[in-house]
Amino acid sequence: MKELIDALNEDLAFEYSAIIQYITYSAIVKGISRLELGEFFLKEINDELEHAKYLSNKISALGGTPIIEPKTFKITENVKEMLEELLKAEEETIERYKRHSQLAEKLGYIDIKVQLENIILDEAKHRDEIKKILHNIGG
Ligand SMILES: [Fe+2]
Ligand SMILES: [Fe+2]
Repeated sequence: MKELIDALNEDLAFEYSAIIQYITYSAIVKGISRLELGEFFLKEINDELEHAKYLSNKISALGGTPIIEPKTFKITENVKEMLEELLKAEEETIERYKRHSQLAEKLGYIDIKVQLENIILDEAKHRDEIKKILHNIGG
């Protein structure tokens, strides 16, 4: 049980980090990219907020205490680098949720397994969008 709570708390810390990362990047993105990326980054936050809400509720339901410290991320004003950082974060997040959904299944928590898989659907959407945007951005 502690293993699962710790795993979900790790996910929660990364969700908080994602929220801060999208808010920060949307605030500091400059140049012509600002017109579209500013809004795009803000739009992603809703999903990450829902993920954080689910995780903190579930951690508490399991008898744990939801973490309040976010993970950290690289700050940059270079648009391509921003997108690469976000892509890396989304890809790592998908891998983490895959591992944790397997853990939940192994421990018999099918509801958590299914919900983490649903979250993977959202993260995969984020990953694909960022990948497409990166496609047209030069060095
Ligand atoms: Fe998320
Ligand atoms: Fe995401």
